[in-house]
Amino acid sequence: MRVAIASAEAMRELGRRIGDRSRAGDLVVLTGLLGAGKTVVAQGIGAGLGVAGPVTSPTFVIARVHRDGRLPFVHVDAYRLGGIDEVDDLDLDTELAESVTAVEWGGGLVERLSDAHLRVDLDRRDDDVRDVVLTATGERWTRDDLAVIAGS
Ligand SMILES: Nc1ncnc2c1ncn2[C@@H]1O[C@H](COP(=O)(O)OP(=O)(O)OP(=O)(O)O)[C@@H](O)[C@H]1O
Ligand SMILES: [Mg+2]
Repeated sequence: MRVAIASAEAMRELGRRIGDRSRAGDLVVLTGLLGAGKTVVAQGIGAGLGVAGPVTSPTFVIARVHRDGRLPFVHVDAYRLGGIDEVDDLDLDTELAESVTAVEWGGGLVERLSDAHLRVDLDRRDDDVRDVVLTATGERWTRDDLAVIAGS
């Protein structure tokens, strides 16, 4: 499922639609270059889960857990992680089943933590519009789910 998103606000709303529909155990993999909008999508997911505190880029702490929403929201920035071993060191799998986990820069690193994941690929075009590609792996998200999340 592919959609063009023209503003940060619309990007946040896309994230909110993910958060609104999230269940315990969900894994969302956010990919895209610097400034593509990964954190904005994570902020929307947090909003959809009812997280009140600010969802900011966790770059310097790598992972942050927000516990004030409908489900725990684990927000990870894997940018500085060296590889699979360091992902394992975070012990994300201990929280995964009870939480909603979103991982910036998670492509190729965290997919194996779960049977199913939602991948959100963000590509910033020259005109600043973001091309967003939603891909579901596993049984969790249907095509209809993706269409609703895309806003189409
Ligand atoms: N669709 C959009 N159109 C225009 N601006 C956007 C859009 N989405 C996000 N932005 C803006 O792009 C900037 C960077 O977004 P964000 O911090 O979410 O990127 P990021 O992918 O998390 O970057 P990093 O790799 O540094 O973590 C923010 O100022 C945000 O408001
Ligand atoms: Mg970010």
